[in-house]
Amino acid sequence: MSLSNRHLLGLYGVPKEDIQLILDTATTFREVLERPIKKVPTLQGKTIVNLFYENSTRTRISFELAQKRLSADTINFSTSTSSTKKGETFKDTVRNIEAMKVDMIVVRHQSAGVPQYLTRISKANIINAGDGIHEHPTQGLLDMYSIRERLGRLEGLKVCIVGDVAHSRVALSNIFGLKAMGAQVTVCGPTTMIPIGIESLGVKVIHSIDDAIANNDVLNVLRIQLERNAGVRIPSLREYHQYFGVTTERIEKYNRDILILHPGPINRGVELSSEVADGPYQVILDQVTNGVAIRMAVLYLLGTMH
Ligand code: CP
Repeated sequence: MSLSNRHLLGLYGVPKEDIQLILDTATTFREVLERPIKKVPTLQGKTIVNLFYENSTRTRISFELAQKRLSADTINFSTSTSSTKKGETFKDTVRNIEAMKVDMIVVRHQSAGVPQYLTRISKANIINAGDGIHEHPTQGLLDMYSIRERLGRLEGLKVCIVGDVAHSRVALSNIFGLKAMGAQVTVCGPTTMIPIGIESLGVKVIHSIDDAIANNDVLNVLRIQLERNAGVRIPSLREYHQYFGVTTERIEKYNRDILILHPGPINRGVELSSEVADGPYQVILDQVTNGVAIRMAVLYLLGTMH
């Protein structure tokens, strides 16, 4: 069994069979992560560069850890300590790194489309670790893995993506992945944060957090992306929390066993109350643990393709 594409640029158009293969492979690696020695020799001899042009805690550490768990050689690039500061172009930087014989590039960039561009200037396998407001495929995969781990399936589940959908690469990857796997997807947020025409992706649009809680099995709650100027779309963070914040009172009002996901980093007291962020409904840190297994699966499947 192998994937149908040698790059992972997004979940748009990725067949169900590929997603299934990644999730099932991640289950095997999830078990490796529970062993006393959490390491396998699968990617020994492979060299992987983590090219991060934008801040990251979870994704960067998770990819690096996944590479180390698979015994690959890893190199971390960050703009603040590189010759980018001296004016070197992105293309020259990539060509110079590739001249050192790398097999795979994991890239995070503030501009949508950079991973796609890399496939044209590099021979390495390219993995998108988040590009602008476009896609974040490994986040979508780890979200699906975490839902499947708790609820046993994805097909037929009702999943609502809540919040700043307009600025969210996590939302798009979730929509494409969940739809491919047969889930029913709704998006919920203020009108100013829901892109016009998003229904054409096969999702339902609602504007009430109460309806979202009452009618779904899973809420995937997005971060308000203040670094992408999301604040101009809402009167204040306090008002956002009042109308769209997920709180214990709101969940208990409907007496529902709902599953709460959040990709992180959390704005506590904005998207989620602190009580919900640390409470029994959420699986936020499980998502982070599962992220390592998902990234091991993606690296393994792409790194051993012929
Ligand atoms: N979820 C996520 O992408 O987090 P980081 O920005 O910390 O990588």
